[in-house]
Amino acid sequence: MKFFIDTANLDEIRRAARWGIVDGVTTNPSLIAKEGGDFVGTIAEICSLIDGPVSAEVVAEDAETMVKQGKLLARIHDNVVVKVPLTKEGIVATAQLSALGIKTNVTLCFQPIQALVAAKAGATYISPFVGRIDDVGRDGMMMIEDMVQLYANYPELETEILAASIRHPQHVLQAALAGAHVATIPFNVMNKLFAHPLTDSGNAQFTAAWEGVPNKDIVGQVSAWLDKNER
Ligand code: G3P
Repeated sequence: MKFFIDTANLDEIRRAARWGIVDGVTTNPSLIAKEGGDFVGTIAEICSLIDGPVSAEVVAEDAETMVKQGKLLARIHDNVVVKVPLTKEGIVATAQLSALGIKTNVTLCFQPIQALVAAKAGATYISPFVGRIDDVGRDGMMMIEDMVQLYANYPELETEILAASIRHPQHVLQAALAGAHVATIPFNVMNKLFAHPLTDSGNAQFTAAWEGVPNKDIVGQVSAWLDKNER
């Protein structure tokens, strides 16, 4: 499963990049606005920080303008993926951008049949919003499961399911168990994926036990052994 980070905050992206588990980035107009709105500069800087797909969203009502914006956004960097809302005009734009070889991420997906429409238009990624479905009392993860089944029925469809609107680590786990190709994860959620109390207590136990070992210097010990034995 690919982990994308769902943020336009450059400091969060730098910190997450160090973890070595980030495969791409998604942004949207809200996330860009939250960081001050330097859209092009932010997308260009993100592309320099993460060597993977970077979603940059068009903002327009008509397909012609979406395509015009998308073609320009795609020229910022080879890794730019043009994010397009799953409206009728957005699907028209997706088909045109896809025909031009421009990667697309069709967003604001809230039901499986929309995912079939986006795949037929040639979407590279489809972004179902799990958390927002949960927020209105429905089962967002069931939507992911249905999409996985739907796409499995038609192997010719190449669109990847990008679970979005992720609210907590369980969403990441459930999306992975369901077979989503990608989860785009906010920094605060990704930061929680590493921890378990038993990991911390077990590591503290190992560290304490090592205090009782006569020669605790692993680097020195191994270096000395290698000097004598390395082939
Ligand atoms: O990329 C889509 C994602 O950012 C939406 O998340 O939390 O606004 O539902 P949220």
